[in-house]
Amino acid sequence: MADLGNGHGDLRPRTAVLTRGFDPSLSFGSARPAVFRSSTYAFVSPEAAEHAFAITTGKFKPADGERADLIYSRFSHPNAEILEDQIVPLEPGAREAAVFNSGMAAIMTAFFAFAKPDSTIVYTTPLYGGTTGLIHTFLEPFGVRGIAVPSGDAARIDQAIRSARNCCIVYLETPANPTLIMTDIERAAGTALHHPDRPVIMVDNTFLGPSFQHPLLWGADIVLYSATKYLSGFSDMLGGVAITRTSELIRKIRSRRSMFGNILQPDECWMLDGRLPTVALRMNRQSKNAQRIAEALVGHKRLSRVIYPTLFCDPEQKRIFEKQCAYPGGIFSLEFKGGKEAAFEFLRHVRIAKNAVSLGGVETLTCHPRSTTHSGMSAAELAESGVTDGLVRVSAGIEDWRDLLADFEQALAAIG
Ligand SMILES: Cc1ncc(COP(=O)(O)O)c(C=O)c1O
Repeated sequence: MADLGNGHGDLRPRTAVLTRGFDPSLSFGSARPAVFRSSTYAFVSPEAAEHAFAITTGKFKPADGERADLIYSRFSHPNAEILEDQIVPLEPGAREAAVFNSGMAAIMTAFFAFAKPDSTIVYTTPLYGGTTGLIHTFLEPFGVRGIAVPSGDAARIDQAIRSARNCCIVYLETPANPTLIMTDIERAAGTALHHPDRPVIMVDNTFLGPSFQHPLLWGADIVLYSATKYLSGFSDMLGGVAITRTSELIRKIRSRRSMFGNILQPDECWMLDGRLPTVALRMNRQSKNAQRIAEALVGHKRLSRVIYPTLFCDPEQKRIFEKQCAYPGGIFSLEFKGGKEAAFEFLRHVRIAKNAVSLGGVETLTCHPRSTTHSGMSAAELAESGVTDGLVRVSAGIEDWRDLLADFEQALAAIG
């Protein structure tokens, strides 16, 4: 087979995830990695200890891809290294990854690796509510100006990037949570590349990655994940990942992670590592389920809108979806004609789907973003971004779609 030009030799992602990053001879021949819970690691010599510290503290620049010997588990540990190596091929264009104990930890650490006082971060809105909170509560008081621009509005995004002074980060979440509005990554990245400050381009790829959207191929520098969602897939652990196109970028992120102490713990790394080979299978099924249900609910008398990529009407949104995404994904949103009251009535009546925040698990979840995940947004931000009172977000699981559709239909029928 020819080299696929993806930096990972001739193996396709679904094979590479099962074959790289783990050497059984380092785990007594075990076919699955052992869990290494040690907090500290013995050096072969004092010189090796000195060299490992020189690399870890940035005094000595290692060769591309070279890692320091293990020192102390807040910096890194074997299970993090195995997991990071196995995640890389799932994200085409990636060079390295760093794992964190939540998605917010990954985002926070990436922000603090590149944000400086008196600089600007341009970001699309809406964002996951925790990320908006992080910008307002920590970055702004620290002297970083936040410039919010509506997702998908290419002209305003270009203009905001061009006019940003000391621009350190361009941050995109696409599709946006929970409105699914898509932003053209290639266009925003192209504008950022021409900015004299050359901001770091970050994309939160939690909704469609790693199977259906590959931001590094469109010019992003860093892809961020809440691994709590599709990557782990069973709503039973928290995790986060930052994936970079260069080793230089990951070194900066890992050095902040060493200070903050928010690396993913060995047991969680081992769990997540076992979930990676099935992420594409789960996401395919979830996308098919979501598409069948969303399309079947179009035109229901209780709904003013079903929001799903295959149902986009706006030609620009259609264009971005077709260009940028392989499949529409497992999330859709329903907008109720009866506003919050009808949305709550629906949530009270769903039986198979659970009323819970989060997404990407094998079980179907429904939530009311405006009163939960996005309740921290200001009234102006809510109005501009389309997170309305009547909006319910659905994360489709892997159940039989016909049972889910019947469940949603009976909950819709129960609205007074
Ligand atoms: C798009 C998106 N990004 C980031 C996060 C934060 O991830 P975590 O809850 O793992 O910290 C979430 C959580 O819901 C999310 O939906």
